[in-house]
Amino acid sequence: MSSRNAIGVFDSGLGGLSAVKEFLHVLPNEQIIYFGDTGRVPYGNRSRDTIKKYAFQDAAFLLKHNVKMIVAACGTVSSVAGKELESELPVPYTGVVNPTAFAAAQKTRSGKIGVIGTAATINSHSYKLRLQKLNPEFEVFEQACPLFVPLVENGFIDRNDKITQLVIERYLKDLKQNGIDTLILGCTHYPLLREAVSDFMGDSVTLIDSGYETAVYAAKVLKEQNLLNNDNSVKNAEFYVSDTPDGFESIAGLFLGRDMEHTVNQIDIEQY
Ligand code: DGL
Repeated sequence: MSSRNAIGVFDSGLGGLSAVKEFLHVLPNEQIIYFGDTGRVPYGNRSRDTIKKYAFQDAAFLLKHNVKMIVAACGTVSSVAGKELESELPVPYTGVVNPTAFAAAQKTRSGKIGVIGTAATINSHSYKLRLQKLNPEFEVFEQACPLFVPLVENGFIDRNDKITQLVIERYLKDLKQNGIDTLILGCTHYPLLREAVSDFMGDSVTLIDSGYETAVYAAKVLKEQNLLNNDNSVKNAEFYVSDTPDGFESIAGLFLGRDMEHTVNQIDIEQY
């Protein structure tokens, strides 16, 4: 029980830190407890049952820290287990799908929207269903990009990297041909490829980052429920992972956009 009154954020690994970066910016008075399931990443090519089981274990770990809200900063978990988490968790919950789809619906002009994500996310059609609920006229084009997560986890994020450019071209060329004007980065790893994706898609395509939209949505929920932290002296972040933390700091710094100033603790997630 190291913290009270914190927001619990989890992901299959490091990708959710791109959302934490936005949370620290949008909600500077809040404590964040982050769990990255680095021992079991990736989730995106696993079965629905396994993803659900992992998601509930991750949430159970965060609940042990008395968090006041849980955020699945993971497109895969949000897509596959979001409904169950929302109905079964004893604290407010959000994933990334609803806030991100809502933002895309606001921004598109042509109604042609692209969605990229892990295989599990794309197979669930979570973003497409949500978008077409918001406006049945939307044309939604989906593309799984399974090589993006390993590229990011291995640091291949430079916009000039030839390998990264080739993979992006391979996955995104049909979306580009379809004439989308808005592209949802439906996995929290993808903001790290933002520059390279934007170089390929061109300036006319607006990229929607799930981390930022989710942080703005979480702020709204906490405000509505009178759960915002008014004491601006308390702000720290705690980081937990399920594999050895060796090397976590340097890669985590890339996701957070700044040096890691915090220690990282390893936990046994299988006991939850
Ligand atoms: N960050 C996860 C997501 O947003 C993807 C990584 C994984 O496959 O576990 O979907």
